[in-house]
Amino acid sequence: MAAVKSSLPRRKFDVVVVGAGGAGMRCSLQLANAGLNVAVLSKVFPTRSHTVAAQGGIGASLGNMSEDNWYWHMYDTVKGSDWLGDQDAIEFMCREAPNAVYELEHFGMPFDRNADGTIYQRPFGGHTANFGEKPVQRACAAADRTGHALLHTLYQRNVASRTQFFVEWMALDLIRDADGDVVGVTALEMETGEVYIFEAKTTVLATGGAGRIWAASTNAFINTGDGMGMAARAGIPMQDMEFWQFHPTGVAGAGVLITEGVRGEGGILLNKDGERFMERYAPTLKDLAPRDFVSRCMDQEIKEGRGCGPDGSYVHLKLDHLGSDVINKRLPSILEIGHKFANIDATKEPIPVVPTIHYQMGGIPANYNGQVVTWDGTQSKVVNGLYAIGECAAVSVHGANRLGTNSLLDLVVFGRASGNHIVASHLERQKSHKPLPQESVDRSLDRINKIESRTSGEKTQAVGNEIRNAMQQHCGVFRTVASLEEGVKKIDALAHKVDNIAFQDKSKVFNTARIEALELSNMIEVARSTIHSAAARRESRGAHALDDHPARDDENWIKHTLWYSDGNRLEYKPVQMQPLTVESFPPKSRTF
Ligand code: FUM
Repeated sequence: MAAVKSSLPRRKFDVVVVGAGGAGMRCSLQLANAGLNVAVLSKVFPTRSHTVAAQGGIGASLGNMSEDNWYWHMYDTVKGSDWLGDQDAIEFMCREAPNAVYELEHFGMPFDRNADGTIYQRPFGGHTANFGEKPVQRACAAADRTGHALLHTLYQRNVASRTQFFVEWMALDLIRDADGDVVGVTALEMETGEVYIFEAKTTVLATGGAGRIWAASTNAFINTGDGMGMAARAGIPMQDMEFWQFHPTGVAGAGVLITEGVRGEGGILLNKDGERFMERYAPTLKDLAPRDFVSRCMDQEIKEGRGCGPDGSYVHLKLDHLGSDVINKRLPSILEIGHKFANIDATKEPIPVVPTIHYQMGGIPANYNGQVVTWDGTQSKVVNGLYAIGECAAVSVHGANRLGTNSLLDLVVFGRASGNHIVASHLERQKSHKPLPQESVDRSLDRINKIESRTSGEKTQAVGNEIRNAMQQHCGVFRTVASLEEGVKKIDALAHKVDNIAFQDKSKVFNTARIEALELSNMIEVARSTIHSAAARRESRGAHALDDHPARDDENWIKHTLWYSDGNRLEYKPVQMQPLTVESFPPKSRTF
């Protein structure tokens, strides 16, 4: 490949981190503290990244409320994942969890406190003591604003460590050379509309999830899967994209998250007969069974005519019995959300809730150092110069279903681990930047120019709505093969429409239509990977519940799905059942 001659403006860094959420900023902090020259690119001001919306807590076996240990946490995570999580990575995360939380505490994160000064921990779905025996309080909480507290803490620390933030910049494409190494990104300065090259010895994708490919979602509008789109276009597969978590309690009609912490504090789900129906489905954990399970039970109640409201289309989350003091102290945001989005006073009335898309378990395949890995049919191969962390990555610690509070944990554990790994390998080898390949930069520019020069074509908003509606209709809490196959046809047809998007108003420089058109080219990669992977998996596991194949099929399907954008190709690779140092947890049936 020829070295780049492009006249595009260039910036040069040791490391470019794309995304300023919890994972990106935990990583950049580690890098900046080690003296590396690090840039963080973010579409929004860092403290508006979607981590800010995380409510209930961060999981760690501190044992502040009763006995707990990391091995029990590991068991719950493996079981929660329905045995699709990699047990080496899960062991790593659960072992690291207490230190990761104490480190945040020392950074100044304002956790709630017990009377003895220790961090307050609340119960959460699927968290148990002694391998499923009884619920345990493991979620370290800052009221119902844990993500807000975490993100602000990390931002302040990064500012103090002189991380360089590029705010309102959108990364466009990975720059990959002839060896397949990643040597930087192209990026758009949103204010001026100018495209830059960011050269980097290492690039870290930390762009979060893509819940905005669904019509109803707890995700922020920025969650459009930009890192995954970049990786997919660069030939990197997407892993386990059929597994998307429906959070049981999104406000009906609004999608806004009501934390599982409500049920952790004692809130309960009721059907139209006032029955606490979860007692029937999950006699031990009841309302605090894992999310995939609770969402399916709610859906079942609604389908069988026991839903609440004029159309029987939601269930009630009752919390008034907790009393105003607890609600005001532990759940102040929920009170506010109840007022603003459901027009109710949660100290007196139940909140109408439905399962709502919340989190993607799949993403860019990465190992527990954060390095992006591909699969050659027999073994994993590292993509030099590229890391992926946080929700856009599949490490895979969440497998087929994530436990509540393991998302914030994932961000800080793997943000820190990737930072450490980059620092170590930086010292070892990457002394200088590799040459920039012209072809890769040209490909990115051609892509942008095509969108921007087309004078007539499809409208971004209309195609976006069609994608969201198709995903909602064909890839819900319960799925069927026929409906998924119909979804495949619709999404593939919409991919052609995305290729014909016209950017219609060039008169404005700062134009959100330009950003939305670019975001759509990422969203379609996520939608394609999801629907194709889901249509191919003929079993029910975790969040993938197939009506026509209701059982888990361990003989044929304990394997990770890999989807390639080029040709909609699917491959599979084994799940890592062997932990690092302890006994493996072999598959067994999931009862609660
Ligand atoms: O329910 C919640 O507060 C969400 C937490 C999570 O997704 O981990």
